[in-house]
Order: sequence, then structure tokens, then C-alpha cells
Amino acid sequence: MNKAVLNYGGVETELDVLTGTEGEKGIDIQKLRCRTGIVTLDEGYANTGSCTSAVTYLDGEKGILRYRGYPIEELAARSRFVEVAYLLMYGELPTSKQLNSFSGLLNNSSLIHEDMRHFFLAFPNYAHPMGLLTTMVASLATFYPVPEEMGDEEERQVIANLVSQVRTIAAFSYKKFIGEPAVYPSYRLRFVENFLNMMFSSPVSNYQQDPDVVKAIDTFLVLHADHEQNCSTSTVRMVGSSLANVYAVISSGIAALWGRRHGGANQEVIAMLASILESGDDGRRFIENAKRKEARLMGFGHRVYRTFDPRAVILKNLCHKLLSKPGVNNPLFDIALKIEEAALKDDYFLSRNLYPNVDFYSGLILKAANIPYDMFTVLFAIGRTPGWLAHWREMRRNENTRIARPRQIYVGPALRNYIPLDKRGAPQTSTTAMREREQSTAGSGRFTPRRLLPMPPGETNSLGENGSEFA
Ligand code: ACO
Repeated sequence: MNKAVLNYGGVETELDVLTGTEGEKGIDIQKLRCRTGIVTLDEGYANTGSCTSAVTYLDGEKGILRYRGYPIEELAARSRFVEVAYLLMYGELPTSKQLNSFSGLLNNSSLIHEDMRHFFLAFPNYAHPMGLLTTMVASLATFYPVPEEMGDEEERQVIANLVSQVRTIAAFSYKKFIGEPAVYPSYRLRFVENFLNMMFSSPVSNYQQDPDVVKAIDTFLVLHADHEQNCSTSTVRMVGSSLANVYAVISSGIAALWGRRHGGANQEVIAMLASILESGDDGRRFIENAKRKEARLMGFGHRVYRTFDPRAVILKNLCHKLLSKPGVNNPLFDIALKIEEAALKDDYFLSRNLYPNVDFYSGLILKAANIPYDMFTVLFAIGRTPGWLAHWREMRRNENTRIARPRQIYVGPALRNYIPLDKRGAPQTSTTAMREREQSTAGSGRFTPRRLLPMPPGETNSLGENGSEFA
């Protein structure tokens, strides 16, 4: 069956049904509005395919994740991150010659322009590393101008710059945060070793690489390298569709990832486990609270996976390996294991298909590798950069790509007469405006604007504290 029929107002409209490689179906509604005058509504795009893509396949019901056809389990066990980055970008696993050449290009592209280092000085010491990363990646556009018409060679260089320099900027941001001098990348080191060295060595001490930690971080990056049309990747595609500069495009992906509903969840898991430990609970009390909706079991549940998240299974095994080393005592892992065991026997979680997701164990891996808490989402961004670039590259080559421009259903006021300023009495409050205001401030406590620096006497802020600038 490759047609769907929509009956609206007694008129039937036939729509094409597309079938993907794995048999998944999608109704093509591109001509719906011009044929019927109506659009579809799908807030949060949970039921909307925004593109066709050959990068990643995901089946949430069966717990399947594949990059370019290769199961994530096999890639995590047998490939390194750089190899996976190449696969995502160019569609095939590299030959050893291609891999050497790609690795060499990444190494040659790892230094950021020296003048960019001065930027770091201007940020406050308490600046969140994700804020620095978003800004610095966007500013790469000014140091490495991209030609209007980009050929394959220029594209290869841009990709190498981003994959390699996101990592360098991430490490420099951390050094800025702790007040130590930046450590430059080294041609002698591989991708992950290079990152760890930039993070943890200093002019007074060398960093000793631990092969288990290197493998754990490499695997973390592989597992986060792509996840089809998630929030940040869709952002990348949306911004990229306007043909914006590629550095700005990737910076927009980083900004989307920063949100705690997206890349920030692995931090929340560690915070949750630490608070459980501190309260003397072994996890059981917390589970009961979660069932009463008084708490949320972070790292559990997923919008797409309705059974196990294959990435969580791999990370759990990795945790066992990393945290069972002699002398390592990790009470948070013990609590995590107890919580998982209890939740997977509990009807509340089973009936709602709530299983551990990638974030349940990834924070423990990063913590074991001594990655600071505020850097967790940054590590996610390093891992996701090849995925974002693969989607950007795929989009550039698709001749059907148009500027992303969704429609809406307007629910604001109908046409009304303009009221001159001197005739406006008490502020007008339409029901919709009131509802919107209530929703935007309800229970969040986050809406209050905060001024970081005191205002000089007699000055107003840029929004016009006394309201006069609105006149
Ligand atoms: N703990 C307790 N109950 C939960 C949880 C949880 N972690 N997740 C969902 N539920 C419950 C909901 O309360 C709801 O119960 P109800 O049917 O009695 O109302 C039911 O399960 C369905 O939940 P939804 O919120 O509708 O599920 P949705 O698919 O919209 O949300 C999400 C998915 C956001 C991931 C959610 O499961 C969650 O908040 N998990 C914790 C946060 C987290 O780990 N996020 C990382 C996701 S992975 C990633 O982004 C890389």
C-alpha cells in the first residue's frame, strides 16, 4: 500500500506513502496544503519526519541503533571514535589509508588561531563551559572564512576543523575555568588521549594516560556520535537550511544541546544519586517518591526507546569494568545498580516502558574519568559534532532541501482596530495573552530577569526601567 487517503469535508485526497529501508512508513504531506488548504499540527514534531536520511537508523520499540547500517554494539566494541566520525560523515568505514589521512587532518587542524586564546581571558571565571563552547565555535567563522561555493576539499577542511577544534576549545574552556594555562594539542597523541592531556596535564605535571579511561571516553563519544533527528540535530538542519555559515550552524546545535531536557540529563543523574547517598537512602525510598510523582528518576525513560536503550547496556558494562578496578570505591554506582534492579521489577516502571537511558550510566563513566561535572554536556557535544556535520553534509547534497519554514495554527486575536496611545486605558489583557503569561512563569521561578552588575546611579537598563524608552 503506497497511498493514504484523507477525507476532509467529504473530499478525498490521495497522499503518497514512503517506505524506508527498514520498512518504516511515512505519509508525504508536502502537497497537502496546496491541494486542500489545511496543514498538519504536531507540536514537538513527535510524529513528523522532517527529512529522509541515510545516516542513522533507530527503532525505539526494538532497542536498535545503527550508524550507516552498523549496529552500535559492534561499533562500540570494535571501532574508535575517529573511525566512527569518518563513517558517519562519508558513509563507509575507512580503509587504513583513509583513516590515517583523516586522523592526520584532524591532528593538523587541532590548533585554534592563537588570537582566539585572548577571547578566553575576557570571559568571567565562573562562565559555564557550554557558554564558552557555543560562543567560541561561532567565532571560528571569523577566523576561518568559508567560501560561498564550498568544494569537496574546503568541506573536508571545515569538517576537520570542527571535529578537532571543538575538542580543543572544550579543554581550553576547562583550563580557563580552573585558572590554569591552556595546554596545546599534540601531534603525537590520538584523539581521546590528546583531549585528556589538554584537560589534565599542566606545566608542572604530566598526565598519565590510563588505557581503561581512554577506552571508556572513546566509547562514550562513539555512543553519543549521532541519534538521528533529535533536538540539536534538527536545530543544525534547520539553521543549515538557510545556508548559514557552518560554524554558526554547529554552534546552534551546541546551544540546543545545552538544555537540561537534552544534553544536560547526565549531570542530573549524578546529582540525584549523590542526594540519595547523602540522605542515607539505598534508592528504594527515592523510587517510591518517583512513583508518587514527587521526584523524577533521572536517566530513566525515553521519548523514542520504549524498551531498553542499547547505549545504556553498553555503558553499564563499561561501568562494571571501570569501577571494579582495585582501590576504586564508587557508592553512586552501587546505588544506580540497586535502583535499576528495583525499578525493573516494579510494575510502575514496567507498565510505562521506563528503562535506563544513555544518561543513567554515562555520568558515572565521566565521573570515574575525573571529568568535572560542568563538562559532562561538553563531552556530549564533542561526541555529537560528527553527527551534526554528517547531517549538515547530507542536507547540502540533497537537491530537495528547502529552507525550513514550518506553518502554524494562529490562535491570537482576530482583526481589531488600532488604539492611539492617549486612548489606551488600563492594560488590555486578552485571555490568550493571560494564559501565555501564566504558562511561561508557572512554577518555574526562572523568569525573573537578573542583573549581574549593579547599575551606575541615575542610569536605566537598556529595556528602560522607567518605561520611557518604550515610548
Ligand atoms: N521517573 C518516573 N516516572 C516517569 C519517568 C521517570 N524518569 N519518565 C516518565 N515517567 C512517567 C510519567 O510520569 C508518566 O506517567 P503517567 O502515565 O502516570 O502520567 C509516564 O511515565 C509517561 O511519561 P512521559 O513524560 O509522557 O514520557 P515522555 O516520553 O514524554 O518523556 C522523558 C520522556 C522526558 C525522557 C522522561 O522519561 C523523563 O523525564 N526521564 C528522565 C529524564 C531523562 O533521563 N532524560 C534523558 C533522556 S535521554 C536523552 O535525551 C539523551
